[in-house]
Amino acid sequence: MSNLFSASAASTEALLTPVNTQAFNAWVGDMQLRIEQVLDQHMPSADIVPQRLHAAMRYATLGGGKRVRALLAYATGLFCQADITKTDCAAVAVELIHAFSLVHDDLPCMDNDDLRRGKPSTHKQYDDATALLVGDALQSLAFQLIAKDTHLQEAQKINMLHLLAVATGSRGMAGGQAIDLENTGLSVSQAELEVMHLHKTGALIHAATLMGAYSSDQEQLEKRRAADHFSKAIGLAFQVIDDILDSEADTATLGKTAGKDAQAKKSTYVTLLGLNKAKALAYELHANALTALAPFGQEADPLRHLAHFITQRRF
Ligand code: IPE
Ligand code: IPE
Ligand code: MG
Ligand code: MG
Ligand code: MG
Repeated sequence: MSNLFSASAASTEALLTPVNTQAFNAWVGDMQLRIEQVLDQHMPSADIVPQRLHAAMRYATLGGGKRVRALLAYATGLFCQADITKTDCAAVAVELIHAFSLVHDDLPCMDNDDLRRGKPSTHKQYDDATALLVGDALQSLAFQLIAKDTHLQEAQKINMLHLLAVATGSRGMAGGQAIDLENTGLSVSQAELEVMHLHKTGALIHAATLMGAYSSDQEQLEKRRAADHFSKAIGLAFQVIDDILDSEADTATLGKTAGKDAQAKKSTYVTLLGLNKAKALAYELHANALTALAPFGQEADPLRHLAHFITQRRF
């Protein structure tokens, strides 16, 4: 994919390590705080009827998660010189869809996972029916928030609604989840695995990034094209790393049950390629994502750092 990848895994890792990590870490902390506050503000209060559903929605969404999709939206907003108050809406909407996807992913009829973000999964804390409804309600809240946003222009809203709808539905995350279930217990080709990962995880990461670009009032086609390329490569890398962590990390660090993929006979990059080749592929995709940003200067640094954050993460 990229000639950067002719180096060994160790030196490739060094090559892909960005500078100014301290400033980036501070920015991540600020944005994580910001998204938490904006989510909190937009979620119905647990005092409002139906209280149990609203409490469960808040449980599933607040106080956890790395917020990678929001960070991607904010980083692309910065890249495209958007006003951050316009990017908030994109960041919140993608985090709501992501939280919904996790609640449904953990249900007994899906991955049957009892632990999420270091706490009992939503259906364990509440019940299956509530978890089902939490997903439904978070999904519609995401679209509602974009539709009623007061900062965005109408055309920006339509672009965001369209991007998010496609990324969530049968040609995006939900479709990828269906393929994941179909592939369970089968041995699939690398091309088939790529299609599955690009849909179940890549689609929302792609939408988060492009929605950040669309939150800018400026039409910046070259930056949008770069964001498109970057997010496709880093979205696939994200799920390759998720497969690796499932097999390599421990439950306490992950905050979700380790070793679940092998136990459930999931098709993953680890089962297909083995750990070393899966890691090599993640670095290759990381390098490929960076090539999309090569024509740009410091304005692309938050995205470069995020690529590193995604491929070097430990949970
Ligand atoms: C987990 O996503 C589910 C996948 C798509 C692989 P994250 O690893 O981003 O989960 P949180 O939001 O940080 O908990
Ligand atoms: C889930 O993939 C992708 C989603 C759409 C939620 P996984 O099933 O591998 O995610 P984890 O490992 O449970 O977070
Ligand atoms: Mg799953
Ligand atoms: Mg799962
Ligand atoms: Mg996983």
